[in-house]
Amino acid sequence: MSTDQSRQCPPQWLESAAIYQIFVASFQDSNGDGCGDLAGLTARLAHIADLGFDTLWLCPIYDSPFRDAGYDVRDHKRIAPRYGTLADFDRLVAALHARQMRLIMDLVPGHTSDEHPWFIESRRHAANPYTERYIWSPTTFCGPGECEYPGSFIRGAAERDGNYLSNFFYFQPALNYGFADPDPRQPWQLPLDHPAVLATRQEMLSIMRFWLDRGVDGFRVDMAPSLIRANDPQALKAARCRFWTKVREELRRDYPDIALIAEWSHPGEAIESGFDLDFMIHFNQASAMKVMRGENCRTIVNLNDVSYFDAAGRGELQTFFSEMQAHLARIGNRGLLSVPTGNHDLPRYSVNRDEAEIKCLLTFLFTLPAVPTLYYGDEIGLRDLSPLPSKEGGYRRTGARTPMQWDDTEGAGFSTAPAADWYLPLDPDSQRPTVARQLRQDDSVLQHVKRLLKLRREWPALGARGLFRQLNSPDQPYPVIYERQMGRTCLRVAINPLAQPVVGTCDPFLADYACVAGEAVVKQSRRDSRATIHLAGRQYAVWTYAY
Ligand code: GLC
Repeated sequence: MSTDQSRQCPPQWLESAAIYQIFVASFQDSNGDGCGDLAGLTARLAHIADLGFDTLWLCPIYDSPFRDAGYDVRDHKRIAPRYGTLADFDRLVAALHARQMRLIMDLVPGHTSDEHPWFIESRRHAANPYTERYIWSPTTFCGPGECEYPGSFIRGAAERDGNYLSNFFYFQPALNYGFADPDPRQPWQLPLDHPAVLATRQEMLSIMRFWLDRGVDGFRVDMAPSLIRANDPQALKAARCRFWTKVREELRRDYPDIALIAEWSHPGEAIESGFDLDFMIHFNQASAMKVMRGENCRTIVNLNDVSYFDAAGRGELQTFFSEMQAHLARIGNRGLLSVPTGNHDLPRYSVNRDEAEIKCLLTFLFTLPAVPTLYYGDEIGLRDLSPLPSKEGGYRRTGARTPMQWDDTEGAGFSTAPAADWYLPLDPDSQRPTVARQLRQDDSVLQHVKRLLKLRREWPALGARGLFRQLNSPDQPYPVIYERQMGRTCLRVAINPLAQPVVGTCDPFLADYACVAGEAVVKQSRRDSRATIHLAGRQYAVWTYAY
């Protein structure tokens, strides 16, 4: 538990932020090599700002052999040449700050590439300062009981006599942050205060400082719970919490306004560990999957869940709501959660959804007590091109990483390179969605994103800090109806993702109300103890009223 809990709170800007995540290789190519880059991205900031986003999260842009799309870092302090130079990076930061926008970098502290100089040293036979910076088994051919720990040890990849623990793919050796409860029979499990372990931590902090000194506003910490190890789950929890809380305290002293965002998928735990924000998405969060996808993505993610937002309407939201409420209760004002539209690891939310369905889902996601996060391209319903041959360790994730579609020209405004040189192929459909087209259409997904973000800015009750109360009864799952409140200001949201019309009932509106987005018919008389809300298929509405 934090020693400093009473004072922990996220930076104020994060509470009203809207985050736009970019997979840089596919966003905007500026030099005609078929791969997106920092200069291209900088030239597109107006688009992101016009939508209403003020915070960018960039997938890793560090030097890398790119066998896991850059999550295999080879040099933490160098920009990958395909993305540009440090000077390009500085220009991006300056351009963002000039627009009052912020930059969140992806930080990958749990592992490096096997081509990282630290690992090249670590795998040598001769002892050196990096020998214990990664987690190694005592010998290559371990006898019974010599190296017992769940996880993949990679055998035969080193000159030294030992196997390294991989953190994700086999070429991503796990850095050594120590064991909370090292087993005395397993001396390779180093304690948390071992000098090599402390050195790993210091090295990571100095990398963070390097980027913070260049103006970065925070980090999205890849696989945040993976750093500290333990044999006992309770010991693990406590040690992880102490670790991140200390990192936070140390950095906050010098950089008081930065945001630490976790890839933890358990906001309750992540915020208790000192993070400012965490996502409700994938691994721990089956319920979030139920919101985003289910039947419609079975071919891609092989899930049996049904999404509430499927037009066939066999989903349920109660597990999601109760998980979200539990997280919110646990984090209080100390942190925030976000339910993103997608990310570079997940199928696009557009799979098997048309524009009307996407708009219903977006209305839901952007009116939750959460920080809105949108994955690039989701503002136009960019399609998932799965199955594609795997690119840079993407496998089934590859289809959600294809080039941004800016306009209706041949290269979609993404690149002037010949198609064969593109990082990934363009959606071949002549009707593929583009930013240019959707800017011209008043009812497009893009305009909807813009309107929703504007609505949130106008009505803080709709934001991350407004109270949330579900109004439809769980036995009547469609439409979903909920209230958001801050002080005397209330907003109500009703959404019907089904193909057919539905009528919902809820507490009556207690005062004059006005519809501020979408449309629906509300029926209530002075004497009624319930209001009825009539929604056509795939319709939503948002009302405001004051107590
Ligand atoms: C995270 C990233 C994912 C990456 C993995 C290993 O889950 O989101 O893309 O492959 O970590 O770093």
